[in-house]
Amino acid sequence: MKQKKGSLLSWHTEWIMSRFPFQLTTEADYDAAYRFSTESPEAFWEDVASHYQWRKPWHTTLEWNFQEPDVKWFLGAELNITENCIDRHLSDKAEQTAIIWEPNESHEAAKHISYRELHDEVCRMANVLTDLGVTKGDRVCIYMPMIPELAYAVLACARMGAIHSVVFAGFSANSVADRINDSSCKVVITTDAMSRGAKQIAVKAIVDEALTQCTSVERVLVVNRMNWEVPMAEGRDVDYRKEHAHAATIFEPVAMQSEDPLFILYTSGSTGKPKGVLHTCGGYMVYAGYTFSNVFQYKTGEIHWCTADIGWVTGHSYILYGPLLNGATTLMFEGIPTYPDAGRFWEVVDKHRVNIFYTAPTAIRSLMSAGIEHVLPYTLQTLRALGSVGEPINEEAWHWYDTNIGKNRCAIVDTFWQTETGGIMLTSCAGVTNSKPALAGLPLPGVQPILVDSNGNEIEGNDAEGHLCFKFPWPSILRSTWGDHERCRQTYFATYPNLYFTGDGARRDEDGLYRIIGRVDDVINVSGHRFGTAEIENAINQNKHVIESAVVGFPHDIKGQGIYAYVILAKGSEANQDMRDRIIETVAHEIGRIAKPDKIQFVSGLPKTRSGKIMRRILRKVAEGDVSSLGDTTTLLDPTIVEEIVKGAN
Ligand code: PRX
Repeated sequence: MKQKKGSLLSWHTEWIMSRFPFQLTTEADYDAAYRFSTESPEAFWEDVASHYQWRKPWHTTLEWNFQEPDVKWFLGAELNITENCIDRHLSDKAEQTAIIWEPNESHEAAKHISYRELHDEVCRMANVLTDLGVTKGDRVCIYMPMIPELAYAVLACARMGAIHSVVFAGFSANSVADRINDSSCKVVITTDAMSRGAKQIAVKAIVDEALTQCTSVERVLVVNRMNWEVPMAEGRDVDYRKEHAHAATIFEPVAMQSEDPLFILYTSGSTGKPKGVLHTCGGYMVYAGYTFSNVFQYKTGEIHWCTADIGWVTGHSYILYGPLLNGATTLMFEGIPTYPDAGRFWEVVDKHRVNIFYTAPTAIRSLMSAGIEHVLPYTLQTLRALGSVGEPINEEAWHWYDTNIGKNRCAIVDTFWQTETGGIMLTSCAGVTNSKPALAGLPLPGVQPILVDSNGNEIEGNDAEGHLCFKFPWPSILRSTWGDHERCRQTYFATYPNLYFTGDGARRDEDGLYRIIGRVDDVINVSGHRFGTAEIENAINQNKHVIESAVVGFPHDIKGQGIYAYVILAKGSEANQDMRDRIIETVAHEIGRIAKPDKIQFVSGLPKTRSGKIMRRILRKVAEGDVSSLGDTTTLLDPTIVEEIVKGAN
C-alpha cells in the first residue's frame, strides 16, 4: 500500500476515502468492485482492510508465490482481532446483544450477552489462561459443547495471541489426542459434560482418556455445564468456576503481527491423518468480516443465526468472527435440529426473531423429511435471508427451503468454501447478485476462480466444467498445514502449477455462475463433514477381525453422501450383524460416531490391479447401485472378485 507513516488520525482519513463501501449493496457496486478487484487486487484489498482497526498500518500489502507456497498479507501491520470484534463496538454498542445463546433444553432460559459482557468474560478467560501459563504462540485445544464459554475461550486465545485449536465435541478421545499431539497443545479447555438432544456425553472423561496419550498438556481448564462431579487431576485440572470468581475483567489485547497464527483447525484430506489448517490474524480478519457483511447483507440490529458448531470452520467464521467483526447479534445454539422435535429450528427463529438463517443441506433434507407439520406452527416472518453451506444442495431441498422456510420472499445464498479458504468464495450476495436454485453463484469480488482440465489447462468461457482452482490469493487462504508445510504444498499447490486446487469439480453456466459438483479426490462429504476414505479405512482396520477394507461414498437421501465399507475379515471371524456393530464401534472409538459407516459389505477380496491398487471406480459403482457399466475389469488381478462384490452388494 502507499504507506502513510503519519499519525493514526491521517490513517483514519485515508479509510474514509476508500473507493468502495464495505458492503456492496447493488449489482452495479458488485460489478465495479469485481472488475477493480481483478485489475488491481492489492488496491482492492487495501480498500477493504482500511475499514478495520489496526494498531499499525502495513508497509506491503501482499507477497506471494504458489510454488512454495508462501502467502503474506498486510505485512508489517499489527492488530488484535478481538479489538475489532469487541472493543471497537463498546463506544456505541456496549449494551447491544452480541451473542444470543439458546440452550439444548427449550425450557432452560436463553442468554443475551451484550458486547460489554462479552468483553468482560473474554478478559476474565484470558486472565485465567495467563495464570495457567498460556502466552502468545502457545496452542490451546478447545473441546467443548456450544456454550457461551466456548466463544469466550476462542476469543480469549485470540486476545492473548494464543493459537486456538477447536476440536468438535463429537470426536473421540483418540481423535482429540491426535490433534493435541500434532500441534503440542499446552492447555485444554473443556467441560464436565454436555447434552446434545436427549443424549448426555461425558466430555471431561473423553479428555482424560485422550490425555493418557499426550505429553504436551500441562493444564486442563474445566468449565461447568452440567454440574457433574468429575475427577480433577491434582496439579493439572482447574475448575473454571473458582478462577472466574476472582478474574479481572480487563485484559489488554496483545498486538499481533498480521501474519502471526490465529488458529489451527483440523480437516480431512485424501491421505493420512487430518491436517491442521493454519490461518493468520490479519488476512483472516479482513476476509471473515468482509464476506459476512456482503454475502448476508447484514444490517445493524438484525439477528444472524448460523446453525453450525464452532468446532467447524463455518462456526469460526460465521458464528463468531464474521458477525462480531460487524458488530452483529449472533445466535449460538447448543442443541440439535430434531430435539425435542423437528420444529426446534423454526421455534428458535420465531422466539429470537432471526433475520438471517444459515444451515447445511443435510439439516434441510432431514427437516423436510420430518414433515411440514413441524414448520406450520411457526410464522418465520422475521426471516430475510437464508444460507446453505458445506455440500451441494439438491434442487428439491433448495425449493423446499425457499417455499416453506423463506415463504418465497427470502434471498437464498448457497455458499461454497472450505476450511482452507477461511471464508466464503463462491456465492450470490443476498438480494444483490444473480442467484439460481442449487448453484453457488458468482465469485465474491477479490476471488479469482478458474476451471482446469486434468492436465491443468484452463477451460475458458462459460458453459464449462472442470476442476475448481483459484489463481490469485485472497487474504484468508490457508498459510500452511501445522508442522508439515510440504503437505500443504503437495495437497493444494502441486497438482496444478501456480494454482490453489480445491479438490472439487465444478460447472460454470452460461451466466458465469458456478455449480459445485463435488469432490474429485478421495474425500467424502457426509452431512457436510469431510472425511478421507483412507482415514476411515485406517479406523476400520484397527478392529482385530479386519484384514483389509476399502471405503467409498454413495448417494444418501439425507446425508448427501453415506459411507460404504467393503471389509475383508480374518479367517474364523463371522460375517454377521454383530461383526458390523463391532466395526462401527471401532470407528466410533477411533474417530467418532459421525464417521460410522452406513453400510458394511463383507467381501473375500478387493478389486485390485496387478500393481496392487484398489480400483475404487468399481467399488463406487457398486455402492451407487449402478452395476450396468463397470467398465474394463480385465486389468484386475482377479476379475472374478467383481462378480462376488456385485452379488453381495447392500
Ligand atoms: O466439497 C466442498 C464442500 O465442502 C468442502 C469443504 O469442506 P469443509 O472444509 O469441511 O468446509 C465446509 C464448510 C465451509 C468443499 O471442498 N462444500 C462446501 N460448501 C459447498 C460445498 N459443496 C457444494 N456447495 C457448497 N455450497
